[in-house]
Amino acid sequence: MIEYLQALPKAELHLHLEGSVTPETLQELAPSLDREEILAHYRYADFAGFLKSYGWVTSFLTEPCHYGIVTQRLLEHLAAQNVRSAELNISVGVMLWRQQDPAAMFDAIAAAASARKDMAVRFIFDAVRQFGVEAAQRVAELAGACAGRSVVGFGIGGDEARGPAEWFRDVFVYADKKGLKLVPHAGESAGPESIWQSIELGAARIGHGIRAIEDPLLVSYLRDHDIPLEICISSNLCTQVVRSMREHPVRRLYDAGVPITLNTDDPAMFHTTLVHEFELASREFGFGRSHLEEIASNGFRYAFTAAAADRQTP
Ligand code: ADE
Ligand code: ZN
Repeated sequence: MIEYLQALPKAELHLHLEGSVTPETLQELAPSLDREEILAHYRYADFAGFLKSYGWVTSFLTEPCHYGIVTQRLLEHLAAQNVRSAELNISVGVMLWRQQDPAAMFDAIAAAASARKDMAVRFIFDAVRQFGVEAAQRVAELAGACAGRSVVGFGIGGDEARGPAEWFRDVFVYADKKGLKLVPHAGESAGPESIWQSIELGAARIGHGIRAIEDPLLVSYLRDHDIPLEICISSNLCTQVVRSMREHPVRRLYDAGVPITLNTDDPAMFHTTLVHEFELASREFGFGRSHLEEIASNGFRYAFTAAAADRQTP
């Protein structure tokens, strides 16, 4: 099965570049760090603990060359799994919060990505909900300015409870006018109402969206309007937004006709790979080969093409 999944052409639609930094790479970037201290930051009791660790890991990405290195390593790792298309979330909201220069960081990321000829790489600039509306607007403006450079989407991540989607209505309108697709995280740590709000604001895909399962009307809506969920099984267990594998709703969502894709979210921080996510789908949820092929092809079907960037309005 592993060889079959490895050979299957795959796409990643939900992957945070910063969450792909392995403990080994982090040690290289910050040699004075103690290995045990690093490993302790790759374990979390809950979602809040994960967000803290994510902040800690990103605090060592201080130079453009750091971003260049982590991008190069991530793309090598994806290519080795036969991932042919990847949309990378970049936490531009975190860069701004640290008063870094996102344009310089993005130059290094884009240079590393353009060196790869075997993979279509696009970018989504992510704001952080709890940093507020003005900060998110700055992220959307930077995304709009880079729309001609494979930046195809604008997202909001972070803590759903501390920044409901409706706060960001004007920011979403702005990003949409710039030709960017809207890809909020929603229904990960908050309930179905967070997903409804995101849909109302024009989300093209939903990051996670697992709690849609609590609302049958929403499940039908996602199915009937062909709005895919970016499912990240290991992430949900590591952050404990789902308590056990048995309780994960991926199979129930699929059986209800909701379009789903499989993704890693933060592969190093959640100790996973895309091949492993497909393996879980097979072993834990009984997806057969035809299902797995359909889910893998969804990754290409629901990918944003660079054409979105060409449609931007002034
Ligand atoms: N940032 C990185 N990973 C995230 C996740 N799973 N949810 C919200 N924000 C994130
Ligand atoms: Zn995410």
